[in-house]
Amino acid sequence: MISIIGTGRVGSAIAFLCTSSGLDDVLLVNRTEKKAIGEALDLANTIPSNSSISVMGTGNYSKIANSDVIIIAASIGEHSAARTDMMSENTLMIKKIMQDIAKFAPESKILIVTNPVDVLTFLASKYVIQKNTIGVASSLDSSRFRFLLAHQFGTDQSHITDALVMGEHDDSMVPIFSHAKFGGTNVTELLDQNQIDTITSKVRFYWKDLRSTKGSSVYGIAKNTFDIAKAIINNKSLETPASVLLKGEYGFENLCMGVPITVNKHGIVKIHQIPITQNEKDQLCKSANIIKNNITQAEKLLS
Ligand code: LAC
Repeated sequence: MISIIGTGRVGSAIAFLCTSSGLDDVLLVNRTEKKAIGEALDLANTIPSNSSISVMGTGNYSKIANSDVIIIAASIGEHSAARTDMMSENTLMIKKIMQDIAKFAPESKILIVTNPVDVLTFLASKYVIQKNTIGVASSLDSSRFRFLLAHQFGTDQSHITDALVMGEHDDSMVPIFSHAKFGGTNVTELLDQNQIDTITSKVRFYWKDLRSTKGSSVYGIAKNTFDIAKAIINNKSLETPASVLLKGEYGFENLCMGVPITVNKHGIVKIHQIPITQNEKDQLCKSANIIKNNITQAEKLLS
């Protein structure tokens, strides 16, 4: 069973992908129970006719017991200037949700979508088995990097491989140009520094462009979250960048940030340490320091 906590636009879009593909039973949890029940009524009509899955809505957290995957997409309001806008409110909210998860479904795999995702994933990993807690965002940033590289080379996304974004899911994220390829050639051989700087800035601020046009991002994050849930439910190993607790990988510890991992039904089974340039490492250090400062602030609220 997949439980989705928070049934706003993102939570509902993730649920839509799960129900319409018949992935698994879905439980929608919302503090306003009526909203969860209503979404479930709508989503029930997307279940394929040959599928035996179900979808239910509730306001009662105890029903998440026996969840294989729990997706946290709830947020207290919407951020506008920065993803840390509602850090205090969301920190307190995540604490409460994680206490419920620790009580009712401690073995489940937790996917965190709520921002600031790196901070919340770190705090959440204190309450449950750490290899089970995954922040979803770097795969979305990597999709944006792939899209922008394809645009730069006047090609479609299928010709771009290994486009990977690491670090914070915010303004300090680090697109790893040294890894990305166009038609098998490393993109650093095809781009000058000016083009690299422009694409870096576009990746980092993609969400603001998106927000200034349609208000908020929905489908990109929903699809990237669904892919990880699917890998866990179907036990099909997926290599993807995601925010996870680091214990010395890339020289960092005691924080969560985006790195390439392999995930399957056992949770995070591997953190990949790919070669990166010194410049990329320096940028990651800056990103790590920003995340650590935010974690320190958030932890004060919980003490
Ligand atoms: C974005 C949100 C998911 O980057 O943070 O669109």
